[in-house]
Amino acid sequence: MILKKMIKRKNILKIAIDSPAAAGAGTLAKAISKHYKLFYLDTGKIYRFIAYLKIKFPKKFNNKFIKSKIRSLKMKDLTNIDLLSDEVGMEASIIAKIKSIRKMVHSFQVNFAYNPPKKYKGSCLDGRDISYNIVPDADFKFYITANVKTRALRRYKELKGLKKKITYKDVLKSIKKRDKSDLNRNISPLKKTKDSLLINTTNLNKRSCFLKIKKIIDRKTKV
Ligand code: C5P
Repeated sequence: MILKKMIKRKNILKIAIDSPAAAGAGTLAKAISKHYKLFYLDTGKIYRFIAYLKIKFPKKFNNKFIKSKIRSLKMKDLTNIDLLSDEVGMEASIIAKIKSIRKMVHSFQVNFAYNPPKKYKGSCLDGRDISYNIVPDADFKFYITANVKTRALRRYKELKGLKKKITYKDVLKSIKKRDKSDLNRNISPLKKTKDSLLINTTNLNKRSCFLKIKKIIDRKTKV
């Protein structure tokens, strides 16, 4: 419905990435976006932003409040480092199960994907339901994953780098909990669609992952 009403930019490159938590999708998506001049959105940050509002303003937290915050949402709001905490991540996976919340953020993501500013050649979004819900006609779809211990270790190092007080055991526990919730929920669960390419980053460094994806994209886009 929203798509029909919206003006879509033609001939743009659209990349959809889905992945479980801390699989390295964000780092890869950023590198790909930079290389191909794509407008990049980490959709998890939107759910984290809403979760943060819930933690910070518990009494005001209702649909009207969320709607007004999403309407005025700026990219800079998504760069707040408080959004990166484990607590916010856990809360994000709880509020992400609420139908009315997913509905509110849907058009923001769709508009971002199909209407990138002119200076960009397209868009790249990463999240849980991008390849089948937000950008079902993406030119390239990737499902990026890694084993849970590797993901927990990466997230642990990242959080330590941000000086967060947390143990590896706690990170592993919360990633497992989030996986369970994201994979099994009824609404927009994380899944690998048949037309997505699987990239397992467990034994690959960032550069090798990037080159693997670049090869796939170049093979199809270069004459
Ligand atoms: O990607 P990130 O780990 O920051 O996402 C936080 C949470 O937001 C996820 O655990 C998931 O529940 C939710 N999310 C979602 N749909 C997306 C992106 C994130 O439900 N497209």
